[in-house]
Amino acid sequence: MSSGIRRGLTSYGDDAFSLFLRKAFIKAMGYSDDALARPIVGITNTYSDFNPCHATVPQLIAAVKRGVMLAGGLPMEFPTISIHESFAYPTSMYQRNLMALDTEEMIRAQPVDAVVLIGGCDKTIPAQLMAAASANVPAIVIPTGPMLTRTHHGERLGACTDCRRFWARFRAGDIDQQEIDAVNSRLAPTAGTCMVMGTASTMACITEVLGMSLPDAAAIPAVHSERFRLAEATGSTAVAMVKNEVRPDAIMSAKAFTNALVVLHAIGGSTNALIHLTAIAARRGVRIDLDGFDALGRKVPVLVDLKPSGQHYMEHLHEAGGLNAVLRELRPLLHLDVPTVSGRTLGENIAAAEVFPKQDVVRPLGNPIYPSGGIAVLRGNLAPGGAVIKHSSATPALLRHTGRAVVFDSLADLAARVDAPDLDVTKDDVLVLRNAGPKGAPGMPEAGYLPIPKKLGAQGVKDMVRISDARMSGTAFGAIVLHVVPEAAMGGPLALVQTGDMIRLDVPARALELLVAPEELERRRAQLAPPVAGADVSGYRRLYLGHVLQADAGCDFDFMTPAKVEEVAPVA
Ligand code: FES
Repeated sequence: MSSGIRRGLTSYGDDAFSLFLRKAFIKAMGYSDDALARPIVGITNTYSDFNPCHATVPQLIAAVKRGVMLAGGLPMEFPTISIHESFAYPTSMYQRNLMALDTEEMIRAQPVDAVVLIGGCDKTIPAQLMAAASANVPAIVIPTGPMLTRTHHGERLGACTDCRRFWARFRAGDIDQQEIDAVNSRLAPTAGTCMVMGTASTMACITEVLGMSLPDAAAIPAVHSERFRLAEATGSTAVAMVKNEVRPDAIMSAKAFTNALVVLHAIGGSTNALIHLTAIAARRGVRIDLDGFDALGRKVPVLVDLKPSGQHYMEHLHEAGGLNAVLRELRPLLHLDVPTVSGRTLGENIAAAEVFPKQDVVRPLGNPIYPSGGIAVLRGNLAPGGAVIKHSSATPALLRHTGRAVVFDSLADLAARVDAPDLDVTKDDVLVLRNAGPKGAPGMPEAGYLPIPKKLGAQGVKDMVRISDARMSGTAFGAIVLHVVPEAAMGGPLALVQTGDMIRLDVPARALELLVAPEELERRRAQLAPPVAGADVSGYRRLYLGHVLQADAGCDFDFMTPAKVEEVAPVA
């Protein structure tokens, strides 16, 4: 295949003319023939005034460009979609696949020999890795990095675990308007991604263990000079990857995905990451099996003491040695021979990393924070295709619980009734939200963290069993069952639940059961509305509703997955 400026010529029926025209236009920007003869490294520009998690992207691009040029390449930045969690309607998940399509096609459309993907906010790195897996052009990620923390009345705040905690206190009347306003101004004190082990931090860690970023890329704070030096090294590495033809199919192997699942458990990572990893792996022809992931969780303990499962923040993980400190402990459970973008194997990266003694953020394998992995997979007549719970951040007493269902039919129904003084609800009930899945909402919002009804919050109730086909922010916590498959809008059993039915959750037994006779469920099923198909809408919404897969398949579009699917490799 041609390389550099000759790559992927625009179709005019005359390749020499296509190249002549391309060079004529690019010279308008001042490029010389010498510059245009170099290997071209594309750099995605995901800066947006709507994306504070990406506020440092311009400085990162400058550093990456410096690295590319020092190594003899030509850096070319180009824009792609940027998604921020709070500025994406209806949800960021609805746009993730659009960003993946955009990024993949722009990598294909333009003459890049390698690409540096700069992402950070929750859906951006997943979308970029999905694009890299499909485009299979040499690719390397540099995350924007986590925010630093700030304190409020002497207490350290973390976005967005403490966003939810303080909001719950405000709802319960525990703090007043003045204090919640002060907290609002202190939760996100610097540029960068949420600094707890939420989805952004989890995906940055997963990118590093997958081998798609340089070592230390996950934890260096967004505003530290180290991150900009790492960006420079990322640019130089991209040029080396062109020379060595290091493509995503060599890095993102079945063994690398197994390593990623091990790390997902060990860091107490976000439930969202399981959906993203499933989608990325599927594009490489690797199937992530939910029950295999659950079985892995019984062998892999949580080692990282970070919010929301623990007490520290990403800056502390960085001071403790970053993800390498975790990987060093996990060596017996990892495939160490997998290649990475650094040109070394994962095992060689770990061996070369500095050891930081006397830290209390990363526990040894023999003295974990939590004895098993952070996420469990549930099955039963309420979730025949599976559901997940982040049990490491749930109230232990609720992990085995039978209670009466209190059903909310939609997000609008939840908003209208959850705080009603006459809502018939007790702390032992099970809150159920449906029609909040990939198609039902649409976009599978992070609404699974149903608020505790105000009148129970005022009584001091902090956690209840909550079940939905929605997702939950990786920064949230509680006895929350998510990603119920199939979703209600596709006729899943969640659609059949009625207020007053009894539901049994048994996390140790991995069971989620609706305690209603099968004949009664069949009677209710006969009255259900037909599944959502999207034929009555147009544009991207039609594409999305017509093709988005369920959570257990990663919520990618059904036409993006190759026909041949390989199993995830077993743990070493
Ligand atoms: Fe961007 Fe949390 S809102 S990482």
